Amino acid sequence: MARILFENATKRYPNGFVALEKLNLEIKDREFVVLLGPSGCGKSTTLNMIAGLEEITDGDLYFDEERVNFTPPHHRDVAMVFQSYALYPHKTVYENIAFGLVMRKHPKEEIDRRVKDAAQRLEITHLLERKPSQLSGGQRQRVALGRAMVRQPAVFLMDEPLSNLDAALRISMRAEIKELHRSMQTTFVYVTHDQAEALTLADRIVVMRDGVVQQIGTPDEIYEHPANMFVASFLGNPPINYLEGELAVDGETVHFARGDLRLEVGSDRGQSLRSFGGRRVKLGIRAEDVDERSEPAKGEMIAGTVTSVLPVGSDQFLGLRVEGEELFFRVNKDLRHDYGDKIRLSANSGRLHVFDAETETSLIG
Ligand SMILES: Nc1ncnc2c1ncn2[C@@H]1O[C@H](COP(=O)(O)OP(=O)(O)O)[C@@H](O)[C@H]1O
Ligand SMILES: [Mg+2]
Repeated sequence: MARILFENATKRYPNGFVALEKLNLEIKDREFVVLLGPSGCGKSTTLNMIAGLEEITDGDLYFDEERVNFTPPHHRDVAMVFQSYALYPHKTVYENIAFGLVMRKHPKEEIDRRVKDAAQRLEITHLLERKPSQLSGGQRQRVALGRAMVRQPAVFLMDEPLSNLDAALRISMRAEIKELHRSMQTTFVYVTHDQAEALTLADRIVVMRDGVVQQIGTPDEIYEHPANMFVASFLGNPPINYLEGELAVDGETVHFARGDLRLEVGSDRGQSLRSFGGRRVKLGIRAEDVDERSEPAKGEMIAGTVTSVLPVGSDQFLGLRVEGEELFFRVNKDLRHDYGDKIRLSANSGRLHVFDAETETSLIG
């Protein structure tokens, strides 16, 4: 069991590059925290600092009340699963899983019990005598998980553990990792660049960009109330649409205005925007936040010309030219539209996002 606390933690690599700037983050005991961001944003650096594989240049790192800035990896109660699996090719699956315990000189019977227990939970008991080269990617991944599990660490670290697996397996492994967290009752810190993975797994997500934290929150908070356009764009498929225009405050109601388009920003969100009348903004409309109604009400109508129709099985993506911009929406697959059709969709006014056009930060309080 462990709580992890970063205080103003900065990582400057020997070549002077700052990979992480003043990270302040508290990971609660038994929490599942996902570090999310594009390649190069500093996720692995952060994880390696928790593991003790990278030193902190400035600031502090605590495990519970203990400052661990200079504690070597083997004195931290952590286990790590790498993207590359890093299995020993000449050892059997059994020996691979047992290795960490053997090194720590645990009694033989205890090692045997823990290895078999982990193998059973990961459903790889029948593979224990094989070598890694005789396993599929998914099976190797389970062995890597097993090797970390038997350590029964206080902190479980995973660096893009599923990114080498094919799409179907990635999804089923997500469920297994979630179950693993539930049954192990330890702190999990998980790194990924896959927004869907982050949304499914995390208690809280830390969105990072260029070594700087953009937002920390539950998946719901991050998705429904992105702090800026970077966060809004990073989550969602197809990505959120933007239209630049002006906020117009008219008595009780707040509108986004651009050319012929006037969209009301719904109740709570609209109210928090009332001091921003006249402001240049970028309106964010998530792809799924539209409906097709025969007669949309005035403040919710988006009129445009269909530019693409892309069926994706369960539903379809619709490209729509609106006020000179091409927007993409996710709509019911029963809607029949053709290229060039002029259509009207109704926007879900309670779910619109509004960002300052200059700073790109959210104006919604
Ligand atoms: N040893 C190093 N020396 C210099 N720069 C490094 C080193 N390791 C990583 N970096 C740089 O630090 C940044 C963050 O790297 P990393 O934490 O691996 O990113 P991520 O895991 O988010 O893809 C990248 O720009 C990377 O090139
Ligand atoms: Mg990485």
